[in-house]
Amino acid sequence: MKSSILITGATGVMGRELVPALYARSSADLVLLVHKSGADENHSTFLRKYYGLSPCRRLRVIQGDVTRSDLGLALSDRRELQKSLTHILHTAADTRFSQGIEQARIVNLNGTRHVAEFASACRSLRQFGHVSTAYVSGKRKGQIRESELVHDLGFLNTYEQSKYEAECFVRSIANFLPVSVFRPSIILGNSRTGAVNKMAAPHQTMRLMYDGVAQVLPGTPEYPINFIPNDYAATTICQLFLTQFRPGCTYHITASEEKTIALSDFIHEVFDAFATTDPKWTLRNIVEPVIAPEKKVGQFSNPTESRDGSKVPGVLKSIRQLDYPKMFDRCNVTNAIPEYDYELPDPREYLKKVVRFCVATQWGRLLA
Ligand SMILES: NC(=O)c1ccc[n+]([C@@H]2O[C@H](COP(=O)([O-])OP(=O)(O)OC[C@H]3O[C@@H](n4cnc5c(N)ncnc54)[C@H](OP(=O)(O)O)[C@@H]3O)[C@@H](O)[C@H]2O)c1
Repeated sequence: MKSSILITGATGVMGRELVPALYARSSADLVLLVHKSGADENHSTFLRKYYGLSPCRRLRVIQGDVTRSDLGLALSDRRELQKSLTHILHTAADTRFSQGIEQARIVNLNGTRHVAEFASACRSLRQFGHVSTAYVSGKRKGQIRESELVHDLGFLNTYEQSKYEAECFVRSIANFLPVSVFRPSIILGNSRTGAVNKMAAPHQTMRLMYDGVAQVLPGTPEYPINFIPNDYAATTICQLFLTQFRPGCTYHITASEEKTIALSDFIHEVFDAFATTDPKWTLRNIVEPVIAPEKKVGQFSNPTESRDGSKVPGVLKSIRQLDYPKMFDRCNVTNAIPEYDYELPDPREYLKKVVRFCVATQWGRLLA
């Protein structure tokens, strides 16, 4: 039977890399579930714009909504897909940090339930991949193993909490569905071009630094920031999902200790890249933010929040993860892909490219 893969969240930061990677590395048919983004465009424009792909028999685009128990699909489409699908890769999520917990659960927990229920009615399903996050570990510190999940130390935001709950749910059905879980760390941008599809917390933090608004960052100077480029994350997930699938296995798609970047080095590198990309910026004499423990940052965070409008509180909440240093064990990944750590691009190299992209596009504003 020909392989047929449903990808939810196909237009997201991960989806935009995963779709071309799955297309290039397999001969499977791909069914792209789109929600709002791209839903109004004709398929040919959409495929070119999002993935650089031309329409062909292997690519199908359907509109859907994981918050609905029927995934927002017509009955005839559901029936047909439940006959033909062999794989599901669930990446759709609400990745905002600023949602209330009930709101975050609508997509992240209930949406995952709906996709899993749909999957359980797929007669030929061989593999279900669930894309989670390394930060289901929340406020835990130290070494985090791939096999570990349950903890009671709490979370820094509702995104982490709702993704944790979704992963607990996915684990609870692992006896009924062939599930693997992929936990990326922080997706920064493309390792070759520095291109960023969506300006998320790390990019907004850089923007605050560029504008001279981030005077204090929570954390310790040696905090190991764990970035992963989206192209490397996508090819790794593809390889694990397509050719080395192991049901019940969880993978940290994260950087080894040598390829993390200390918070103080991150700040220096970003400031250096600002200066080389935009020499006029140096005339503003903006100083590097001070690094301080989270409790002290609380004293500074309110004036900072009010100056830059509504986005800032979310950013400040997300960077509070910087006060909870952790390292992610990657045994399952490196057993499957021995060259994984070695081939992971050096963060200093692509961080410069990402900063250049952010400055050149004014954090994406010039692309709109
Ligand atoms: N980016 C990271 O740094 C990072 C790190 C670790 C883990 N992850 C995980 O990787 C996965 C993908 O994240 P991402 O960064 O690609 O997220 P993203 O850029 O925010 O994209 C989310 C995707 O989910 C779709 N979606 C949202 N609500 C939906 C709904 N009700 N029904 C169907 N689709 C819906 C979005 O479509 P619309 O835009 O049209 O709503 C979009 O395609 C998530 O599970 C996330 O937790 C991401």
